[in-house]
Amino acid sequence: MTRRLEGKIALVTGAAGGIGMASAKRLADDGAIVVLADIDLAGAEAASGQIEGSAAYKVDLTDEAAVRSLCETVADRFGQIDILHNNAAIQNDAQRQADLDVVNLDVAAWDKAMAVNVRGAMLMTKYVVPHMIAAGGGSIINSASGFGVQGEATLTAYGSSKAALIQLNRMIATQYGKQNVRSNCMVIGFVLTRMAVESTPDMVKEILLSHHLTPELGQPEDIANLVAFLASDESKFITGAAIPIDGGVTAHQPSYADFQKMFAAMGSGKL
Ligand SMILES: NC(=O)c1ccc[n+]([C@@H]2O[C@H](COP(=O)([O-])OP(=O)(O)OC[C@H]3O[C@@H](n4cnc5c(N)ncnc54)[C@H](O)[C@@H]3O)[C@@H](O)[C@H]2O)c1
Repeated sequence: MTRRLEGKIALVTGAAGGIGMASAKRLADDGAIVVLADIDLAGAEAASGQIEGSAAYKVDLTDEAAVRSLCETVADRFGQIDILHNNAAIQNDAQRQADLDVVNLDVAAWDKAMAVNVRGAMLMTKYVVPHMIAAGGGSIINSASGFGVQGEATLTAYGSSKAALIQLNRMIATQYGKQNVRSNCMVIGFVLTRMAVESTPDMVKEILLSHHLTPELGQPEDIANLVAFLASDESKFITGAAIPIDGGVTAHQPSYADFQKMFAAMGSGKL
């Protein structure tokens, strides 16, 4: 690991577990002082306990006053905010079971997805950007999803919120680029977080892998590596980008996996 983020203050939302925790760990490994924020304070504190010099705060991203207070508290305590990873999303079991196809979705689930996944990221950005500008610049990294660029039979609200986040990212990059604030979006594919490992049957993992161009499914650390790069000056010429990080799932023809299966059955690699 390099210490390329030495002296930087990083704020990661949704850092109690999964990708957010991996991101927080990696940013700290690269030298940043990391603040882990989550609605799950116990989880954020447990994660923070594994990261030297870090701090944990509770925040409900749907609450504007709470977001503003978090950003002010962090800026007061650490003097600046250089890196913001907008990573939190509402995707617990209750939310997933209510976020179905358009006809059957619970409208409350739509509102919740929008409130956390995109309005929450907007609020964090609104209250962090002035601190970044005051400190001479910063880097914002947004956790979007393949569901924001491709259709699916379910998770309508989740996918729509992630599409909005991809556009919010471009707006932020455009509006503050000249003040040295960059904003980039990771269009993340399936990642084997602890929750995904536990809740995804092997058959589903096999189907997902058949659509990957890589030999393996993604790990939280694969995403954290991109976060650290986007947070660092090594990416200083990249802003407003929506970067697929999905093992190539969105790079190929939709028929790819079916053809691979057909070729295998034919014992040939050609049509
Ligand atoms: N894991 C994947 O396969 C995958 C794929 C594509 C995109 N993503 C995106 O990456 C990000 C992280 O995913 P993950 O799998 O680690 O998810 P996760 O559910 O483990 O983490 C999300 C975190 O957000 C927090 N959160 C929820 N509501 C909140 C609120 N109102 N205020 C503050 N925090 C709140 C949760 O407590 C949780 O810790 C999400 O934005 C997700 O959409 C994940």
